[in-house]
Amino acid sequence: MAALKKLGILLSGRGSNFEAIADSIKAGRLQAEIAIVISNRADAPGLESARRRGLNAQLIPSKGRVREEHDAEVVTALKQAQVDLVCLAGYMRLLSPDFIRAFPSRIVNIHPSLLPAFPGMDAQKQALAYGVKVTGCTVHFVDEHLDHGPIILQKTVPVLDSDDEHTLSARILQQEHTAYSEAIGLVLSGEVEVQDRVVRKRTHAEGK
Ligand code: GRF
Repeated sequence: MAALKKLGILLSGRGSNFEAIADSIKAGRLQAEIAIVISNRADAPGLESARRRGLNAQLIPSKGRVREEHDAEVVTALKQAQVDLVCLAGYMRLLSPDFIRAFPSRIVNIHPSLLPAFPGMDAQKQALAYGVKVTGCTVHFVDEHLDHGPIILQKTVPVLDSDDEHTLSARILQQEHTAYSEAIGLVLSGEVEVQDRVVRKRTHAEGK
């Protein structure tokens, strides 16, 4: 049997997407292992959750540090753990170009809107304020621009008249929790490739 692909998870907060990925692996829905979980914040509940699960959980504080230096330390930890794919799961930091170059087409992120609509902070609030009737979540490859790289998978969610930021965020989060594992599975399978920023299924001939 082929060795399991190794994931490195980066988070800064609650960590529910990390937990959903860990649960998918445990349930056999996703063939992978979590080699390392890194938080840039000591108080991130996701870091504590990773420790409770017995995972290799590391704190690499970013506060007051130059981005490039902090990123270099994170990259070293990810390389030491031999990760195949880096998954940003509520990681509230922009990655430096050096970080992105260290893992070409091997960094993914989840965002709570249908990109390219509503990048950046408070995507759910932006969607409500704009008055869209449908929103959702996007899993995409990370490039040097915020919430911008090639889209791997999206899931839609209706916006109801009765919604506030809280109810809409909860409905989107439910979809995030299945979308992220599905997208990771797709990337790890090697069945997709990026052509001119579009993620497509490889044809068989190309896949060989
Ligand atoms: C999610 O909404 C994700 O889309 C965004 O940050 C939030 C993280 O939530 N990037 P959690 O920490 O995974 O619970």
